[in-house]
Amino acid sequence: MIGVFDSGLGGLSVLAEIRRASPSADLLYVADRKRAPYGTRSLEEVRDFSLEITDWLLDHGAGTVVVACNTASAAALDDMRETHPDVPIVGMEPAVKPAAERTGTGVIAVFATAATFQGRLFDTTVHRWAEDKQVITRACPRWVELVESGVFEGPQAEAVVGPAISEAIDAGADTLVLGCTHFSFLAPTIARLAGDGVDVIDPAPAVARQTARVSRDGAGEGRVTLAASGDLDEFAGLVTRMGPWTNADIVPYP
Ligand code: DGL
Repeated sequence: MIGVFDSGLGGLSVLAEIRRASPSADLLYVADRKRAPYGTRSLEEVRDFSLEITDWLLDHGAGTVVVACNTASAAALDDMRETHPDVPIVGMEPAVKPAAERTGTGVIAVFATAATFQGRLFDTTVHRWAEDKQVITRACPRWVELVESGVFEGPQAEAVVGPAISEAIDAGADTLVLGCTHFSFLAPTIARLAGDGVDVIDPAPAVARQTARVSRDGAGEGRVTLAASGDLDEFAGLVTRMGPWTNADIVPYP
């Protein structure tokens, strides 16, 4: 079984890619909605939540853990790997490398959470792959709220997302990096607002391919279990709109 977690609904974008890359794997997903958002919390708090959820996933049969959350990856990947050296653990890394390879203007914009930008992982990634580029960073907490409320498109989504996109385009960015898994659900709106000639990069497919490579849990019955903290009925209502999850079992976390 492959265990996957996020602060909320965002990681379902990664789960959908994992489903495509590993169609027969059994999947167990945790949405920690009660304690969301993670992106405005301290890295220490998010690390503690991540270690706790990892233990729960392993106790419930997961053999591989995917951190489908950039914030939790920034906060906890090193500690998770140290605590569970025998478990394949896959995390999100902001897609700065492909963005640096693709940009023509030399200007990249990364949209993520405040905590992700505070983590060492982000600085290391920029230093390693995009030292000679201009990297614009923008924390977007309202985008997370939008997705958690189930709004991905339309006038409300455009009003929330629009200003940061215009700012990035006006500054010369031709490559936009989705550095928070929630933002994948806004990708069509972002791409439309950004216009032709602007690349929007979502690392979720690459993370799903990496999961398929390192996991020993690809052969299962294709079962999906979605666990959530917080209001389970609300969660159930929202997830049916967010991927192929109509047949999923929905259970409380913890
Ligand atoms: N989906 C998360 C991420 O990728 C965090 C959103 C939040 O809870 O602030 O960073």
